[in-house]
Amino acid sequence: MSDHKVYPVSAEWAASAWADEAKYNEMYAESVNNPDKFWGEQARATIDWIKPFHQVKNTSFEPGNVSIKWFEDGTLNVAANCLDRHLATRGDQTAIIWEGDDPSSDEHISYRDLYERVGKFANALKAQGVKKGDVATLYMPMIPEAAVAMLACARIGAVHSIVFGGFSPDALGVRVEESGSSIIITSDEGRRGGRRVPLKKNVDAAIAGMDNPASVKSVVVVKCTGGDVAWDTDRDHWYHELVAGQSVDCPAEEMGAEDPLFILYTSGSTGKPKGLEHTTGGYIVYAAMTHKYVFDYKDGDVYWCTADVGWVTGHSYIVYGPLANGGTTVMFEGVPTYPDASRFGRVIEKHKVNQFYTAPTAIRALMQKGDDVLGDSDLSSLKLLGSVGEPINPEAWNWYNDIMGKGECPVVDTWWQTETGGIMIVPLPGATAAKPGSASRPFFGVQPALVDNEGNLIEGSGDGNLVILDGWPAIARSCWGDPARYEETYFSTFKGMYFTGDGARRDDDGYYWITGRVDDVINVSGHRMGTAEVESSLVAHAAVAEAAVVGYPHAIKGQGIYVYVTLQAGVEATDELRKALVGHVRTDIGPIASPDLIQWAPGLPKTRSGKIMRRILRKIAANEHDQLGDTSTLADPAVVDDLVANRMNR
Ligand code: WTA
Repeated sequence: MSDHKVYPVSAEWAASAWADEAKYNEMYAESVNNPDKFWGEQARATIDWIKPFHQVKNTSFEPGNVSIKWFEDGTLNVAANCLDRHLATRGDQTAIIWEGDDPSSDEHISYRDLYERVGKFANALKAQGVKKGDVATLYMPMIPEAAVAMLACARIGAVHSIVFGGFSPDALGVRVEESGSSIIITSDEGRRGGRRVPLKKNVDAAIAGMDNPASVKSVVVVKCTGGDVAWDTDRDHWYHELVAGQSVDCPAEEMGAEDPLFILYTSGSTGKPKGLEHTTGGYIVYAAMTHKYVFDYKDGDVYWCTADVGWVTGHSYIVYGPLANGGTTVMFEGVPTYPDASRFGRVIEKHKVNQFYTAPTAIRALMQKGDDVLGDSDLSSLKLLGSVGEPINPEAWNWYNDIMGKGECPVVDTWWQTETGGIMIVPLPGATAAKPGSASRPFFGVQPALVDNEGNLIEGSGDGNLVILDGWPAIARSCWGDPARYEETYFSTFKGMYFTGDGARRDDDGYYWITGRVDDVINVSGHRMGTAEVESSLVAHAAVAEAAVVGYPHAIKGQGIYVYVTLQAGVEATDELRKALVGHVRTDIGPIASPDLIQWAPGLPKTRSGKIMRRILRKIAANEHDQLGDTSTLADPAVVDDLVANRMNR
């Protein structure tokens, strides 16, 4: 690993950035030594409060007593912080630059325009009976109405739960049921890479498949492509009809700092996705502050995060962080390779993007097409590049730095999670020298540490499980409807510490290098997935007796999905069946969960107590079967020989 290559902070960046090294050190020390003072000041400076808070941090990670509260006696409204307070000074400034899938379609939406659209839709939601505390599910393409709907919920105190538009009807239905949501906001169809995604049709199927379809009282549909949709006149409403005639004035609900802002379902080690609950005050303080310092966002900058609002990155760094800061944020409907692979470059040139934030999988996909992939696009507006979602390998880092950044843009590798709400470990561009492949140092208030499997702290350099020792404002507060699961998942493995599920190495300079998940979560093209979800989908197929799913190194996706399937007796192992199983998982969960490789496994390696030894399956999939380690506890060691001999080639 290229530990040794260091890219120092340039003198220019140190002089101009929000924080240079001395400032970072000083602020970091204050943030952990005197969190009440530090966060109190930051929260007052960053966010407008309706009632000021007096209590700042009130957190405990102690098992049996996990409790996380920030600014708990303060009140505020997130939409008012993202919109209303900017009107006097920047009402005509562009808040959102929307770039359509079709390169000829785009739209500039000013703060005033966005404020008015949000007010109207907030009133429309109220007219639909949506109240403070109700959950609204959003299943939307990347169109401005997605941001409008998020902010309209925030305005009236409704809790949004966004389900990524690539999820299947079943996956959507489960999330609607689990969240207890009685309204779904969607569009007729979405557009991606020149194709259409049948969102309304999926919503209809999701509702039909629910135990209690009548629990969904209303479906609001944005007319996006004009494609044909089925219509239930009692339940379905056109968005444009609901907002027509609504007033733009909708008073912002006064929310307690600890009232929920949104829930977001994400995958864990066990089958069911968890709805992480994020609250109002701490989340918005942290989203705004990280956006400012990490991207060194300054007034007038055009900032582009290529994520989808269906993931946490889209929540914090397309919508909430940038808008709280009064920024101009690009929202992109399309994909990096449509109409061709120069698209990112074209959009950067067209909108004169200053900060660009994407995932390693996109970088690797472009890199593979050669150094001239961005065509003759003028990238000279770029000041900074960011990476998120999975470890960035040094080759991709170097390509990003050299080809996109022309060696002149700091690259910020940002490590964080749905649970953490905002960026946690990152080299601040004016403060921290970058090492390709390392997320480097903690953001203010974040106290990472490494522990061995017994939970002993590792001092100095070394490898271990990545934990966080104390609370920061944007950490999730609970699993929706299941606080016990929250405590069990994150605070019971290593008592009194938040366990990230990631492994990491710390080098002699104190830099963190994330080595990937140590649990049964895999990261495919930056999309987080539980292997158990894919397994339960497979075993639901009539031909499958048993299935085990692991990740394996994939040149573009980071990790691919490798499946071992034991068929029911008498079922023939054919290529058609392989295809059918891939299709089955796609329909069941969504295209992002499609298996890459399926190996027929007459048996799976199990301990005598019947537990599948995934460690062995991972090694075989990674073609590292010379490093299987101890197999003496296997019930039937011969199983392994068969699996090694019949390994799928990539
Ligand atoms: C991985 C996405 C290495 C990690 C914001 C984490 C990363 C999971 C990085 C969370 C990074 C995210 N370097 N690994 N810079 N960023 N990860 O919840 O395994 O979709 O636990 O949040 O992505 O994925 P999630």
